Amino acid sequence: MRHFLTLKDFTKEEILEIIETGLLIKKNLKAKIYNQELKNQTLAMIFEKSSTRTRVSFETGMFQLGGHALFLSNRDIHLGRGEPVKDTARVISGMCDMVMIRTFEHSMIEEFARCSKVPVINGLTDSYHPVQLLADYMTLVEYGMDKNIVAAYVGDGNNMTHSWMMLAAKLGFELRVATPKGYEPDSKILQEALAIAKESGAIIKLMNDPKEAVAGVSVVTTDTWVSMGQESEKEERIKTFKGFMVDDEMMSLAQEGAKFLHCLPAYRGLEVSEELFEKHSDIVFKEAENRLHAQKGLMVWLDKKRG
Ligand code: CP
Ligand code: NVA
Repeated sequence: MRHFLTLKDFTKEEILEIIETGLLIKKNLKAKIYNQELKNQTLAMIFEKSSTRTRVSFETGMFQLGGHALFLSNRDIHLGRGEPVKDTARVISGMCDMVMIRTFEHSMIEEFARCSKVPVINGLTDSYHPVQLLADYMTLVEYGMDKNIVAAYVGDGNNMTHSWMMLAAKLGFELRVATPKGYEPDSKILQEALAIAKESGAIIKLMNDPKEAVAGVSVVTTDTWVSMGQESEKEERIKTFKGFMVDDEMMSLAQEGAKFLHCLPAYRGLEVSEELFEKHSDIVFKEAENRLHAQKGLMVWLDKKRG
């Protein structure tokens, strides 16, 4: 049995296999062929933070695969009132077939997985957002942009940055990360990504100049400067991140035909300008839709692995 907590635990071949599975199920869906691999199965979805895409994509995906999803907000279940994670894991995994969790500390999801009898999927922690990267990569495949990727991540060194670093490290492409000083990615995760990159041939570079990062790249991506849980730092962050907005001028430094990705929600006038965002809205909303297809591929893949 496998859990999906971070891309670090997956080989390049496995990541590509998950994407392939998702693309095949997507093709079937568009042809009105309904895959039913998860018939009669249930997915428990524990949300300790807000969500639009993650909830809608997992719930819809599970239904389309013949199963059912339960939305469990921590305001409603005893986890939010102090029932231990290890007890919650043993109870839920005794009844459900798979669990998706969105929470704060990555260690919570690790503990849950240790005590769970069924596969656990990371739907975002403070450290990683790996299901988003499945959708992002699927989108690049569909746009024919998955060969010779040189990507720039501009903004906060957060869960999205860490997941981009792991994707680059595993797949062996170049990623430049530009953050303000003091907002670099976590140094332990960086070291882990660099060690994997050594094997795969990936190049991961950190810098503080966004223009240097974006120069000549094929993919530019960013994320909010104020992640969930950091609301009290909002004003300070907005001041510090000045100059890191991806706008037409910044994007003009990238390759001709370069793509812009954003996991959403997007804050216009902060990490991205309204003009630039709307110019790239086709690919960005395909990326959002691909959360559904990539995660269906993931759930079917995880189900097969449990034998
Ligand atoms: N990108 C993403 O995970 O969106 P939600 O927070 O809406 O789920
Ligand atoms: N970094 C953001 C991603 C939202 C999908 C957050 O954690 O809030």
